[in-house]
Amino acid sequence: MLAAYSHVPLQVQVRSSATERVLSMMDRSNGYEGVAAQFLAGRGRAPSTGIGARAVRDWARTLPRGAAVVDLGCGSGLPITKVLVSEDLNVYAIDASPSLVEAFRCNFPETPVACESVEHSLFFGRMFDGVVAWGVIFLLLPEEQRRLIQRIADILVPGGRLLFTSCPEPLVWNDAMTGLESRSLGAAEYRRQLSAVGLSVISEYEDEGQNHYFDAFKTGPGESRPMTRA
Ligand SMILES: C[S@@+](CC[C@H](N)C(=O)[O-])C[C@H]1O[C@@H](n2cnc3c(N)ncnc32)[C@H](O)[C@@H]1O
Repeated sequence: MLAAYSHVPLQVQVRSSATERVLSMMDRSNGYEGVAAQFLAGRGRAPSTGIGARAVRDWARTLPRGAAVVDLGCGSGLPITKVLVSEDLNVYAIDASPSLVEAFRCNFPETPVACESVEHSLFFGRMFDGVVAWGVIFLLLPEEQRRLIQRIADILVPGGRLLFTSCPEPLVWNDAMTGLESRSLGAAEYRRQLSAVGLSVISEYEDEGQNHYFDAFKTGPGESRPMTRA
């Protein structure tokens, strides 16, 4: 590292590493800002046939055209946001990595995107018919996951749908890209937490990359069925 900066005065090197420390402390993307270039060279440019695209497309086709859907942890928007947009949904997106949000804006200049953490998001100050959280919920601490599930229930209309990925077993592992700890609460605990905030699981399934999906909807008041395309 020092060798790479050998032409830079020491004072600047010190400031630069301090800045890096501050930036990493401020990072709300669970390490993804730090690996943004690597991410954009791989998953972040996946075509609409990329892993998970088919499962999300099947889900998107069950929603009415024009339904308002927010993609949490959208990354560059490829492939998940792209699928949602191409299924004629009214898409919003949120991601905490400034570099990935910049790439998203290039890919989808017409789609509203907020660069903020899902834990502190204002969710555009509106309600949604659907929420997608692909590859993000397990990056949060257990208590943050619980709070996010509550917030998702708050922003869904009755009958509104939630699709998210996490492992079916309670598990802790290191994220393949960032090396940071991820944790799944496991299907039984996710179902318990979803039910506690009025979300009912319709089904669980896996995609071609062994990603496990929870497909849920918000019950009542006066709504005991998930929103579907007519
Ligand atoms: C595994 S990637 C998945 C990206 C995208 N959903 C996809 O399918 O390619 C996780 C994404 O979540 C974002 N992220 C991580 N923690 C976040 C947080 N607390 N709030 C918002 N976004 C977050 C990262 O910046 C990254 O874009």
